[in-house]
Amino acid sequence: MPAAATDLVEEILDLKRQRNAVILAHNYQSGEIQDLADFVGDSLGLSFKAAETQADVIAFCGVHFMGETAKILSPSKTVVIPDMNAGCSLSDSCPADKLADFLAAHPEKNYYVIAYINCSAGVKAIADVICTSGNAMKIVESTPADRNILFVPDQNLGAWVMEKTGRKMDLWQGNCYVHVDFTRNSIARIRSEHPDAKVVAHPECTFAVRLLADEVCSTEKMVGYCRDSTAQSFIIVTESGMLHRLKKEVPGKTFLPGPTDLCACNDCRYMKLNTLEKLRDCLERLEPQIEIAESIRSKAERSVRRMLELSR
Ligand code: 13P
Ligand code: SF4
Repeated sequence: MPAAATDLVEEILDLKRQRNAVILAHNYQSGEIQDLADFVGDSLGLSFKAAETQADVIAFCGVHFMGETAKILSPSKTVVIPDMNAGCSLSDSCPADKLADFLAAHPEKNYYVIAYINCSAGVKAIADVICTSGNAMKIVESTPADRNILFVPDQNLGAWVMEKTGRKMDLWQGNCYVHVDFTRNSIARIRSEHPDAKVVAHPECTFAVRLLADEVCSTEKMVGYCRDSTAQSFIIVTESGMLHRLKKEVPGKTFLPGPTDLCACNDCRYMKLNTLEKLRDCLERLEPQIEIAESIRSKAERSVRRMLELSR
């Protein structure tokens, strides 16, 4: 690492001590952020960490809805994120007012709303329960059989859970722009170039891509799958930050990024807005902070805590 970057890391670690802060980072963050974080994980693991931390400040290196989830679970803590513009196309595809209008237009369905964690605090406040890609099957299976489920906002994750559980659900038509960029052609091509490699895909990928996968799972489960598999090489069909964690924790095996039709790998433009400089600045200034109106936060906490209880 160049001397300037080493200085920056030292500065961040100093500020972290002064602030009594914890640094949480999603698996899609850059390698340099992952390497200095206290915990790196998927949305489910990060939610557990945010709920149990004793720190005064949570510096959340991920995207906005992840920082919001931390604030929902730890309202007395200061939650800062490096860049307020780190949003999520999937979360944006289901605004809370549109969901409320849809539910009001279909009272006969008396929907039980399961919201994937990639959504705003406003949507979490409306939902009955939250899920992540790591526990979606469990959450759906624990829903009373006589209830109509509305699954929001990811149609691909929802379809995958329906395939796995056999449970019929109505699906909100949202998606993640990163994962729908992987195509049947782009993945079939790399698979034919590396016939011995296992294809591991995130459930936000389309049905056509999931059909080509040897394993479909959350980012956290990818680590265990690749570690336990007898295969030596893997094509990882998700955001490219995942490769850093896999190479670090499963040394000696080969990891290839899943390509799109245009690029050799795929970055989430929101996740990659975070930098070491912005992390240093947010710890120094304690800005930008996540704020949520208490009337929304307390309702959202009910659905997030229900998920955590069902996931233990
Ligand atoms: P995971 O919960 O599997 O980490 O996924 C989060 C996400 O944003 C996927 O695009
Ligand atoms: Fe949202 Fe997709 Fe980025 Fe995940 S990868 S944060 S779902 S835009």
